[in-house]
Amino acid sequence: MTEDLYDPRFVKAVFDRCSDRYIAFSYACSFGFTERWRRQCVALLPPPDVQAPSGYDFMAGTGEVWPHLLKRFPDLEAITAVDISSGMHRRALERLHALRAHKIAFIEDDLLASDLPSDSADFVISTFGLKTFNPAQHAQLAALTARVLKPGGVFSMVEASDPKGWWLRPLYRLHLLVVLPLIERLFLRGARDFAMIGVYSSNFGDASGLAGMLQAEGLEVRYRRLFFGCATAVSGRKSLRS
Ligand SMILES: C[S@@+](CC[C@H](N)C(=O)[O-])C[C@H]1O[C@@H](n2cnc3c(N)ncnc32)[C@H](O)[C@@H]1O
Repeated sequence: MTEDLYDPRFVKAVFDRCSDRYIAFSYACSFGFTERWRRQCVALLPPPDVQAPSGYDFMAGTGEVWPHLLKRFPDLEAITAVDISSGMHRRALERLHALRAHKIAFIEDDLLASDLPSDSADFVISTFGLKTFNPAQHAQLAALTARVLKPGGVFSMVEASDPKGWWLRPLYRLHLLVVLPLIERLFLRGARDFAMIGVYSSNFGDASGLAGMLQAEGLEVRYRRLFFGCATAVSGRKSLRS
């Protein structure tokens, strides 16, 4: 393959093409685990210092994490969703209903070249957006997260991961790298976009590298393995003295 899999324009095109089917495919093919991991990612956010927090959903996609955020923080003031894909962004808009719309703003932006304001967020959340970044891009994401959080601000991020050491790992990898691409080819008219997501997930490994980078940016960080390491999460806080 000659394309650069980690070029933001390539990633944007993959998600633009996937956007219409993304929600159903990701739910069905993960047997509902993606929803469970989004809920856990929100639960792992340390308590914010303020009653009505506002913050960013990085790589927001179709906004799947918002119901969990609004459930945990009924007084939440605002979520600013940031995503590079206009397709995912459009789907997110379509899914918004009146009850939620006034709390959600969108920025269509490449987070790797982002000038989001410093010290502007009480929280940063990100679900399943880490895999399409390579290690150098993870370092950029860590720096951005540390920069945009207010002192005392909190973050939590989760990604599907390689469950190294788990005895069912071969089955899991078969599902990701063989079964999902086959289902996609058979049922989605030969498309190969979700197959790309399998490749990204497999290359990603786990979030331990990102944990170190966030720590290097001065954040307090906890790293956790969820369901035998099939997903991994990083969460923590920016110190008040930053
Ligand atoms: C797998 S989706 C995750 C969507 C959603 N957060 C969820 O829980 O399902 C990854 C998202 O990251 C976005 N993305 C990838 N690279 C990006 C970048 N450089 N800047 C902003 N968004 C990006 C894609 O457009 C896509 O919507």
